[in-house]
Amino acid sequence: MISKETNVVILTGAGISAESGIRTFRASDGLWENHRVEEVATPEGWAANPELVWNFYQQRRRQLLEVEPNSGHHALVELESYLEHFLLVTQNVDDLHERAGSNNLIHMHGELAPLRCEECGHVEIMMDENHLGENFLTCNQCEGRMRPHIVWFGEMPMHMPEIEKALAECEVFIAIGTSGHVYPAANFLHIARRHGAHTIGINLDPPENVYFFDEFFQGKAGEILPHIVEKWTTE
Ligand code: APR
Repeated sequence: MISKETNVVILTGAGISAESGIRTFRASDGLWENHRVEEVATPEGWAANPELVWNFYQQRRRQLLEVEPNSGHHALVELESYLEHFLLVTQNVDDLHERAGSNNLIHMHGELAPLRCEECGHVEIMMDENHLGENFLTCNQCEGRMRPHIVWFGEMPMHMPEIEKALAECEVFIAIGTSGHVYPAANFLHIARRHGAHTIGINLDPPENVYFFDEFFQGKAGEILPHIVEKWTTE
């Protein structure tokens, strides 16, 4: 079904990083590391209590130094090197896809490793030891305050025109480790289907939109992906 010429778009969510030890978002208690989403992942939360939000993200940024890509991330690198037309769109803000070796990659919800200046918009990777403490950091260009380079609820996801173009052109769309609760990402499946793509889901639990996949594999991404990628790339 997949050959070298097949145009493939992949969407990943928190589930692909779960086996690396990064917790997913939608636990049954609805809390993110004991915080309400509105407190730590909205512009209003940042305005109301920047110290809380800063420390929440600093903790997650420090965690990046302790985790490694898993077999699911590596399998997607294999697939990318086999295909001529491949785009990986991730909702994840960790850097595990790029550390595994993925190249054609879009972080639609931003990234933890870079920070962004609130004043001038300058974006810079700030991951040295002195960047990971409790104190706010200032911009190297204008001395404005740096904020997490994260798309919070109520903000516009990044690179949407490029993603929508790729979805309209792809022949196979694969969603991995995402609950299908958060838009616009949850809608990518429908956009790809509307343009005639074959759709595949891989998830530990059946996601919200499970009935719209042509094929659905239930289980861990780190276990399923190496097998199916090997099958696709050797057939
Ligand atoms: N392999 C595959 N799927 C897994 C695994 C695994 N090892 N472990 C968990 N999952 C699945 C869960 O069953 C769940 O359906 O991954 C999904 C993770 O769902 P969410 O926690 O909702 O994460 P995600 O879909 O990425 O959330 C989307 O919402 O909170 C915002 O901005 C945040 O990017 C995030 C967005």
